[in-house]
Amino acid sequence: MKKLVVANWKMNPQTIEEANNIFSGIKRTAQKITGVETVICPPFLYISAFKLKDSLVKLGAQDAFWVNPLAGKGPYTGEISPDMLKMAGVKYVIIGHSERRENFGETNEMVNKKVKAALESGLKVILCVGEKERDHEHAYLRFIKTELEEGLRGIKKTNFKNLVIAYEPIWAIGKKGAEADSPESVLQMSIYIRRVLQPIVGKELTHDLPIIYGGSAEPVNAEAFLKEGKVQGFLVGHASLKPEQFNEILKIANES
Ligand code: 13P
Repeated sequence: MKKLVVANWKMNPQTIEEANNIFSGIKRTAQKITGVETVICPPFLYISAFKLKDSLVKLGAQDAFWVNPLAGKGPYTGEISPDMLKMAGVKYVIIGHSERRENFGETNEMVNKKVKAALESGLKVILCVGEKERDHEHAYLRFIKTELEEGLRGIKKTNFKNLVIAYEPIWAIGKKGAEADSPESVLQMSIYIRRVLQPIVGKELTHDLPIIYGGSAEPVNAEAFLKEGKVQGFLVGHASLKPEQFNEILKIANES
């Protein structure tokens, strides 16, 4: 199976010129890498600027609303529907990122509605889960279980093939590579996530479901996460804004 490496640019960069530069810097390398599905998730505003027809690089969005308006009616100021994204050439969408849960009050119920709408539109969904902190009593495991169970409630079995889980421990986001989670703990978490998902998704699909890691993924830790942590790829934040770093991660993923 191909590895999946996703660039989450968040609310960066500040100008379309910079966005174009970063994008071209990544595209040049990504085009030559065949063992990795490379996805770039820019701010909505830049999505239409990137022409990716027949390209090995895929476009993603950082969020999508939970309604696909019927008959063109969309009284949801400020929102963007999954269908609109699909028409703009977007293949993937990140849903339930911890920064949206934290800053915009997104609940598991809202995340669930968004996951459903995006999957119904035919987008591939990257559902983010992750704990704020690790407590000794292991309450964080229950927290992740709830995020998964509530986030995926009522999803059609046939749609699970378009699902990716991104495990992003919140405490590891935006740090240096050395402060990321450890490969051993990510491996344990992936096993746990699959155990929670099995009754929901079914044995076969759970086995094939990609689990990617996010939280200060950088070239320094990428190989260990792939080899020892056995992740299927990465959701990369700050390192995805630096083409030389992101391209290094792509190369490592291609060779691991
Ligand atoms: P960093 O790679 O900057 O830690 O961000 C991770 C993240 O939130 C990706 O979605």
